[in-house]
Amino acid sequence: MATAQVEEKYNFEVVRWFTVAAVIYLVVGTLVGVYIASELAWPVLNFDIAELTFGRLRPLHTNAVIFAFGGCTLMATAFYSVQRTCGVPLWSNGLAWFTFWGWNLIIVAAVITLPLGITQGKEYAELEWPIDLAIAVVWLAYSINFFMTMMKRKTSHIYVSNWFFLGMMVMITYLHVVNSLAIPVGLFKSYSVFSGVQDAMIQWWWGHNAVGFYLTAGFLGIMYYFVPKQANRPVFSYRLSVIHFWALMFGYVWLGAHHLQYTALPDWTGSLGAAVSLAMIIPSWGGAVNGMMTLSGAWDKLRTDYILRFLIMSLAFYAMSVFEGPVMSVKTVNALSHYTDWTIGHVHSGALGWVAMVAAGGLYHMVERLWNTRMYSSSLVNMHFWMATIGTVIYITAMWVSGIMQGLMWRDYDAFGTLTYTFAESVAAMHPYYAMRAIGGLIYWAGGAVMLYNVVMTIRTASSRPAVTAATANA
Ligand code: HEM
Ligand code: HEM
Repeated sequence: MATAQVEEKYNFEVVRWFTVAAVIYLVVGTLVGVYIASELAWPVLNFDIAELTFGRLRPLHTNAVIFAFGGCTLMATAFYSVQRTCGVPLWSNGLAWFTFWGWNLIIVAAVITLPLGITQGKEYAELEWPIDLAIAVVWLAYSINFFMTMMKRKTSHIYVSNWFFLGMMVMITYLHVVNSLAIPVGLFKSYSVFSGVQDAMIQWWWGHNAVGFYLTAGFLGIMYYFVPKQANRPVFSYRLSVIHFWALMFGYVWLGAHHLQYTALPDWTGSLGAAVSLAMIIPSWGGAVNGMMTLSGAWDKLRTDYILRFLIMSLAFYAMSVFEGPVMSVKTVNALSHYTDWTIGHVHSGALGWVAMVAAGGLYHMVERLWNTRMYSSSLVNMHFWMATIGTVIYITAMWVSGIMQGLMWRDYDAFGTLTYTFAESVAAMHPYYAMRAIGGLIYWAGGAVMLYNVVMTIRTASSRPAVTAATANA
């Protein structure tokens, strides 16, 4: 079916808006990342202005990349693929628009409140209670619409990408609600209902699952739809994808305590978290191999299909981070890595290499179908690919070296049992790596800016260039 006809059948206008918003937020979120990375290398950039300090802008960065860029990507891709795989338009177009405007208003609220220092002080759950309530409502609107669309599907079975999206929606709903339970004492101030060690445990049960369900399960939904579509081949093993799904759903919820090794938490919780973390290597690698093997017999496509390159490279980084994470959860390794830049390196091999690359692959794929034309410039897609890959490698290498060095310096004792290095000496030693990270980040950001330019030009020139036919669109 030609894409033009498909458009009439499905609600794609809202998907287009989410798609463009996602690309814009990628550029904005990574720009804030580059700025805070530069502040760490050259603190003069704080300019003694409270709103610009690292402490205020850091949560702005994490919220912008995770919730603005990641959220709009998940909403665009889930709404796009659920319609395609179920053969029906969205259950409610109105609710989809409510989700779009609601989510964007939440982002605006975050942009205003975070630099002003209005925060709950919980990582990835910084936003104050009125915004938390709005998140719950909009997230439910998104989830219900997705679920109801699946319920009225014309196909007999539910394709695996939809399982991953749905799993993410259910888990994030209850994680967000439980972790955000708080007693308001004013419009901009509240206190968590949990305290002390329970608060820490609930926070990291959420924190890890923001990673496990939002940044992993949701983006695996993207992987399972867009890799086979872009490669024009069925997924390598459907059975493996189902095992991957259930293992992730049952495994991830137990891992939170690996963020709290050597704390007031009972020791066994950390050991349990580490044991399940290690076990997670198996299904996670199964999923990564499943995605890569989807290309069996068609590896040559990687030479010419730059969008596919993003998708396959993202799987390589996925495999890498889901090996590194479990290793870091082991107590002896965590004793070195915790509090150091090693964690930041791990985060960004997952975030830049896996999350943002699989997202870029999915977004490029959709842009070509939603505007019914090829990308304005495929060489710019290739350029973006290399900038993203090189930027990621520079970033994570700098952080690994800096992190391991920090950890080793902090624990080094001399013959008299006193610390060999002062903390300030370790800070000075990190400087070259912080500068290197800022450069890697700048390259990554510039790649995103190239993508934005290419997407804008594709949309602007869409009507004057050849349409994507059924044969090439793989619709
Ligand atoms: C140009 C790209 C980027 C740069 C330069 C950058 C830079 C930074 C910096 C400097 C920090 C603070 C590190 C610290 O506290 O020591 C940070 C934290 C973080 N960033 Fe990024 N970032 C980028 C892209 C991204 C993307 C695309 C994502 C997610 C999809 C992401 C997710 C995070 C997370 C989750 C943290 C918090 C890590 C933690 O608390 O352990 N970043 N980033
Ligand atoms: C089986 C898979 C994974 C396991 C077992 C795992 C394990 C870990 C461990 C042990 C830490 C350090 C905790 C600490 O010392 O505080 C960590 C931090 C982190 N990981 Fe992973 N990881 C996995 C995959 C991923 C992936 C795919 C991402 C994708 C973005 C990711 C994102 C993060 C983030 C954002 C943090 C920092 C949390 C914070 O302190 O703010 N992880 N992970």
